Amino acid sequence: MSQLKLSDADYDAFRKILEDACGIVLGENKHYLVTSRLNRLSEELSYPSLSDMLEKLRQGRDAKLKERIVDAMTTNETSWFRDRYPFEMLKNSLLPELGKQKINPLRIWSAASSTGQEIYSISMTLHEFKQLNPGVLNSRVEIVGTDISPTVIKAAQDAKYDELSMGRGLTDERRQRFFMDNKDGGWTVKPEIRMGTRFTELNLLNSYTLLGKFDIIFCRNVLIYFASELKTDILDRMAQVLKPGGLLFLGGSESPTGYSKAYEMVRYPEGVVYRLKG
Ligand SMILES: C[S@@+](CC[C@H](N)C(=O)[O-])C[C@H]1O[C@@H](n2cnc3c(N)ncnc32)[C@H](O)[C@@H]1O
Repeated sequence: MSQLKLSDADYDAFRKILEDACGIVLGENKHYLVTSRLNRLSEELSYPSLSDMLEKLRQGRDAKLKERIVDAMTTNETSWFRDRYPFEMLKNSLLPELGKQKINPLRIWSAASSTGQEIYSISMTLHEFKQLNPGVLNSRVEIVGTDISPTVIKAAQDAKYDELSMGRGLTDERRQRFFMDNKDGGWTVKPEIRMGTRFTELNLLNSYTLLGKFDIIFCRNVLIYFASELKTDILDRMAQVLKPGGLLFLGGSESPTGYSKAYEMVRYPEGVVYRLKG
């Protein structure tokens, strides 16, 4: 089917709808990307044309369509032990401290968890730490993954990964130790790593209070898509669900500086993390 190009007016209207729905700000230069993703979706959902699908979206009555569009427009790029240093810092610097504080339960939130690699990397790190340091961390651990996309939440819950995803950031040792070979080209995370994890849909534009309070929040590689005011709003509301002295990990190109005064930067040998100010 031929690809329909969005008019400038349609593109602007679409940008507004998307930003209101999930905070993502599309740059002027994303016209081509948006057009091709939307054309693909309108074909998949059997709309006669892209204009028909956008008209339906504009009417605002089809929640499922909005969900599919947000899903199509979000970038779910992730990998195991992404950037390495947050997990090294957990293992070498943070967990020994948290162990001494005898926090129970220890609660960790991955606020844009995508297909689950971040959550299971945290859980594998905890396992490795406990094995190397028996008796140091006796807390029950709860790791909560949330994402706006129901598709990635479902994938994270299924905890099954193909060879391509397995090749992104896992050592052979971790693959053998923490996964079951499904013998069909796929691998499933072992029950002991899934234990204590849970996933639920959550739009970061909405309230977090029902999630409870956390010792550590991972909010990585999602703030980059949002406008400044929204970054401020999200960082300030995350501060409200952090326990005193709680820690926030952001992506490599993200920082609260200039957006929120609730955090102070703390340097560990492995890198930087942000701590809730007292
Ligand atoms: C690039 S991935 C980052 C995954 C992981 N945190 C990492 O660093 O590897 C960004 C994730 O943010 C999610 N996302 C985008 N907008 C969101 C919103 N408003 N609320 C919650 N999640 C959102 C996307 O669905 C996507 O899974």
